[in-house]
Amino acid sequence: MKPDHLDNIVAEIADEMAQRTDRGEVASYIPELANVDPQRFGLVVIDADGHVAAGGDADVPFSIQSISKVFTLTLALGKAGDRVWRRVGREPSGSAFNSIVQLERERGIPRNPFINAGAIAVTDLILSGHQPREALGEILRFMQFLGGDDSIVIDEAVAASEQRTGFRNAALANYMKSFGVLDNPVEYTLGVYFHHCAIAMSCRQLAMAGRFLAHNGRNPSTGHNVVSPQRARRINALMLTCGHYDGSGEFAYRVGLPGKSGVGGGVLAVAPGKASIAVWSPGLDAAGNSHLGRIALEALTKRLGWSIF
Ligand code: DON
Repeated sequence: MKPDHLDNIVAEIADEMAQRTDRGEVASYIPELANVDPQRFGLVVIDADGHVAAGGDADVPFSIQSISKVFTLTLALGKAGDRVWRRVGREPSGSAFNSIVQLERERGIPRNPFINAGAIAVTDLILSGHQPREALGEILRFMQFLGGDDSIVIDEAVAASEQRTGFRNAALANYMKSFGVLDNPVEYTLGVYFHHCAIAMSCRQLAMAGRFLAHNGRNPSTGHNVVSPQRARRINALMLTCGHYDGSGEFAYRVGLPGKSGVGGGVLAVAPGKASIAVWSPGLDAAGNSHLGRIALEALTKRLGWSIF
């Protein structure tokens, strides 16, 4: 595809989104996130040749929140391989991202690595054998490496805000601990989890970080092999089926790409073989996924014919 065609489509969508008044609700259960301006909108598409098409607030960092779970899963698979699947499943939950109900019926094993319970179990695996500070450093350096930018940081105010108010996550972690699913002290695991959710990145950095998922595990510009082609396919499969929680079916139906949302309003989407895409609009829908983020991605895949189906 001609780069200017992609540039035009991204610019058009950014303009259309700027005019919309239906923006969803900014997350407020993490108090610090409630301060984000709902008018923000960013979109970045990086194609297979490394061409970057950017629109709106493409360079404004936002809280990546649950999008970090894609990268912690990648790290945990690198560290523990299939042992990851002893503590977390691979099925959609059909429940909210912070739900606890299935944990009792399923002996403390979370349905998948993207709901909060599953991501806490994955974080605990990364933490094992390390101090919390070291585990967090490893996650942050991985994001800097993939995002191609050493300036990526953790927003300490967001982390502290969630640490103060994260009672549900504390409940999930303690509940899993009671089943022997977590190895480390609950407060250590939660500390690392809250901090990796609080990593701040722009759409440009995030789209860069997702490139390996779009190209068989390899960043085609740097030549870095991040994971095997099979592992990239499998992570994408989990993003498609579980990446938007109880809204995963709707996202697959409308957008037709693997995607992972965060309550900061970001979405990372992967068009296999074609592009890595990051969008950000802070207002959320009822399932906690970016409202305009999904609408923008639907417009993009429709205009480009990029649905995987
Ligand atoms: O644990 C939490 O609730 C947040 N740190 C992350 C949740 C999240 O991003 C859900 N995504 N839409």
